[in-house]
Amino acid sequence: MTETRTPFPDPARLRDGHGAKWTAVDDDVIPAWVADMDLGVPEQVKNKIECTLRRGDLGYPFWRAVDPVVQAFSDRMRDQYGWEPETGDTRVFSDLIQILQVVIEYATQPGDAVALHVPTYPPFLAAIERAGRRIIPLPLDRDDNGWSIDIERHRQIFRDERPGLFILVNPHNPTGKIFRRDELTALADLAVSHNVPVLSDEIHADLTFDGRRHIPFASLDSGVADLVITATSATKAFNLAGIRCAVAHIGHSAVADALDRAPLDFFGTPSIMSRLATVAAWRESAAWQRRTMEVLERNRRRITDWAQTHPEIGYVEPEATYLSWLDFSETTIGRDPAGIILEKGRVQLSPGEDFTQLTDLDTSSYARLNFATTPDNLDTVLSRIDKVLDC
Ligand SMILES: Cc1ncc(COP(=O)(O)O)c(C=O)c1O
Repeated sequence: MTETRTPFPDPARLRDGHGAKWTAVDDDVIPAWVADMDLGVPEQVKNKIECTLRRGDLGYPFWRAVDPVVQAFSDRMRDQYGWEPETGDTRVFSDLIQILQVVIEYATQPGDAVALHVPTYPPFLAAIERAGRRIIPLPLDRDDNGWSIDIERHRQIFRDERPGLFILVNPHNPTGKIFRRDELTALADLAVSHNVPVLSDEIHADLTFDGRRHIPFASLDSGVADLVITATSATKAFNLAGIRCAVAHIGHSAVADALDRAPLDFFGTPSIMSRLATVAAWRESAAWQRRTMEVLERNRRRITDWAQTHPEIGYVEPEATYLSWLDFSETTIGRDPAGIILEKGRVQLSPGEDFTQLTDLDTSSYARLNFATTPDNLDTVLSRIDKVLDC
């Protein structure tokens, strides 16, 4: 039986809903900012939610055996990435930002340094600062070959700052970089030699292009697994950001012990519905995800072609994610690209400066473009940016 794709939600429907991406902007603005996709939701997930509702299964969650989210995560990691996390070391949370805050709280002390690559997902920087920890930026470098890390500089920073936690985001937001095995191994060696816990955010792992396969950091064969807390969810690859269900595999025993000692109800509990939706995404929605990747791949190519007509824009084709990180410093709008594109082109991008906020790095000439939309809508976005650049 050939599968048919349900039509993409039309913009009127998206504007009429409650998703921040479309409703927090003016009606004439096309949103290409918040990391949600405009490409619908797997039918299997919708069916599971409907079926749960019809059963009226809205009580407190309970499973006699292993939580199905935890089992689905473990099976998926084994099948997709050759890493089989222990179900007993995996916990369910509501989202990754919660996991980040919990890990900061339980792995570090106020005043400790927390190292992470910048630019980065802005709420992470805000959360570190709010928790009274010190942000230690590890800059990513861009050259003709793409994004890279200077491991010698990392070593120096680790020696000088002695971070109490290292946060790795792989695949990386906003650059779309996938860390190569040799880079991951060098980072793992660094963590091991300084005995630093690592929070590995792998939320974009299923969104890789060109047949690249994600490598879970905890699967590296270098003694690092005992230091790693792996965090992920189905929300990016299956477009379920509002579902509020995520998992953390906690390989670091001191953090695991501290969490075990915390009050049972301290962390909240994702609902039965959100857990079953996550399982339906991970176990039953591969065909939907494959088709969605085809749209994303086509859109990525469209942006790469477009960027070639704008050699003044700094652009590295993302290896994963549906985000393009564009440097406008050599254009006429380099002082505030997102602001000017919003004002004159009525397209909402994510302002570059947010991704290095609270550090002394400056990415204000950048903007992030979310290309997880229909090809037609992407064309309109790019032509609106063209008009702004032509002014
Ligand atoms: C790298 C990364 N981590 C975490 C998040 C947020 O995840 P959550 O909604 O589960 O907090 C995002 C959202 O875009 C992200 O890109």
